[in-house]
Amino acid sequence: MTRVDVLPHTPSAYPVFIEAGAISRALPVIAKMFGNRRLFLVVDRNAQSHAAPIIAAAERTVVLEPGEISKTWMALGKTLDQFLAARIDRQSLVIAFGGGVTGDHAGFAAAIALRGIDFVQIPTTLLAQVDSSVGGKTGINSPHGKNLIGAFHQPKLVLIDPAALSTLPDREMRAGYAEVVKYAFIGNEKFFDWLEKNGRIVLAKDAAALEHAVAVSVQSKAAIVEKDERETGDLRALLNFGHTFAHALEAACEYDRRLLHGEAVAVGMSLAFGLSARMGLCSMNDAERAIAHMAAMGLPTGISMIRDFPPLPAARLMEMMAGDKKARDGRLRMVLTRGIGRAFVTSEIDMDALAAVLERG
Ligand SMILES: NC(=O)c1ccc[n+]([C@@H]2O[C@H](COP(=O)([O-])OP(=O)(O)OC[C@H]3O[C@@H](n4cnc5c(N)ncnc54)[C@H](O)[C@@H]3O)[C@@H](O)[C@H]2O)c1
Ligand SMILES: [Zn+2]
Repeated sequence: MTRVDVLPHTPSAYPVFIEAGAISRALPVIAKMFGNRRLFLVVDRNAQSHAAPIIAAAERTVVLEPGEISKTWMALGKTLDQFLAARIDRQSLVIAFGGGVTGDHAGFAAAIALRGIDFVQIPTTLLAQVDSSVGGKTGINSPHGKNLIGAFHQPKLVLIDPAALSTLPDREMRAGYAEVVKYAFIGNEKFFDWLEKNGRIVLAKDAAALEHAVAVSVQSKAAIVEKDERETGDLRALLNFGHTFAHALEAACEYDRRLLHGEAVAVGMSLAFGLSARMGLCSMNDAERAIAHMAAMGLPTGISMIRDFPPLPAARLMEMMAGDKKARDGRLRMVLTRGIGRAFVTSEIDMDALAAVLERG
């Protein structure tokens, strides 16, 4: 079992437990930490098979439709209505059981029901285990963009069971893996060496390798969140390595199944390495090594590898990148890199180099 403490020595402190079989021990762990609370479970339909013990103990179970459709006011309203109909109170505990969609939806519901109820994250996708379940960002989408409505609401506990990934489709595993390798690219070259050797068995769901990869990822995220909880400085922005590109690519694909978020991040990180090399910040060797690893793991590493990508000119993609909510004063601000493990945030971007990288795709 690995334990990671998030925001230690603060009023928002909470533990993350990572262990195969964690779900089967969830109820006693919750009882020990929180006493006898009424449980309100929100579970993704595709993760339901793993949730049997918790469903049996819950006061009310809300089953979410898979996909971004559950990050709408309509879906959120239904969850809140069900909570209130079952007389949720301040002592109740909300449990988010599913991928990032479920965590964002249930976490936001917990943030606003009765002005805030405690909640627990039990993430069941690789992406949610290494990224969205830790850090306290919750919310839903708007027709104006993704994740534009939400709240910071930290969970009180995160229980990560790598065994829950047994039913996760390979494509979703690879998409989550992009966020794993992101932590290596941001600040951990040693972890990248390890992933080069072990990435394949991580994707094959080898228990020990998965537990290690998830644990290092969660430690990395926790360390960054601890220093910059609300993204007021540049540090938390490092987690957006590859994401300014990714958000534009996802928008171009209308957030549909053509391009999963993690796939967009893999293309975005490849472009970020390409741009950094072109601007003379990072060696060609590091850029090639990074991109080769993602390609070997079956991830797309260029725009031309995205099936049915619309024929958009580079200039249009650049406009979309500048409109990303992470931009400041309309000025493009991005994470670039000086090499594997050496990402940094900058507003000094060579726009000609950026256009060239986007044109090459
Ligand atoms: N809050 C944050 O900090 C943060 C960070 C990153 C991403 N996100 C959000 O997370 C979402 C993406 O998360 P995701 O990739 O987990 O997507 P997701 O929640 O849509 O899950 C992906 C797919 O896997 C299915 N699934 C979930 N668990 C399963 C299991 N154990 N077995 C089989 N199928 C399973 C789901 O039904 C869905 O079809 C996006 O909405 C994104 O905005 C939030
Ligand atoms: Zn991401």
